[in-house]
Amino acid sequence: MKKRVAILISGRGSNMAVILREAREGILRDVCEPVVVVSNRADAPGLARARQEGVATLVVPSRKLDRDAYDRALLLALEPYRLDYLVLAGFMRLLGPATIARYRDRIVNIHPADPRLFRGIGGYEWAWQNRLARTSITVHLVDEGMDTGPIVAQEEVSLEGATSLEEVARRGLAVEHALYPRALCGLLRGAGESPRTNRHP
Ligand code: GRF
Repeated sequence: MKKRVAILISGRGSNMAVILREAREGILRDVCEPVVVVSNRADAPGLARARQEGVATLVVPSRKLDRDAYDRALLLALEPYRLDYLVLAGFMRLLGPATIARYRDRIVNIHPADPRLFRGIGGYEWAWQNRLARTSITVHLVDEGMDTGPIVAQEEVSLEGATSLEEVARRGLAVEHALYPRALCGLLRGAGESPRTNRHP
């Protein structure tokens, strides 16, 4: 049985586009049914891409709502879709406790760094500013903290010789686009590596 999935975005949606493609004709074909793309911003460019793909879209605006109020609004809006999983792909709001409890261990995120070394927004800026020779792209489950949930999959990307932030982000995103569908495939099949905690390096 395919898992019913919502993809949550706030912006460009390049990871979303890859997941939609893999669900249509790639490795997610037998395991993932993307039923809705949700954005907290009406102007997220990814929404138009989702519509082009024929996927339902939903805007649950977050402006002026605190974490709890947004949590309630989001939970209510998602309920009719009977979702198995929430897949975060550049979703820039912290989910609240009610949403996390409702979808416990069924919320997935991709983070452009090793969350044991760097959490929050700006993983590629951090790697570039510190002239790191490599960084790790991470897929993890979402808990109440910021990028603190158990790690599902990780892949290193070499930043050796990178000469700009754009190049760092380009190399990183290429790895994101390969890793995220693979990690989702394992999780949705129920055959993924058992997640390991990322609290203790
Ligand atoms: C990615 O770098 C992802 O790791 C981070 O937000 C960015 C989203 O990019 N969480 P896109 O919207 O998928 O293009």
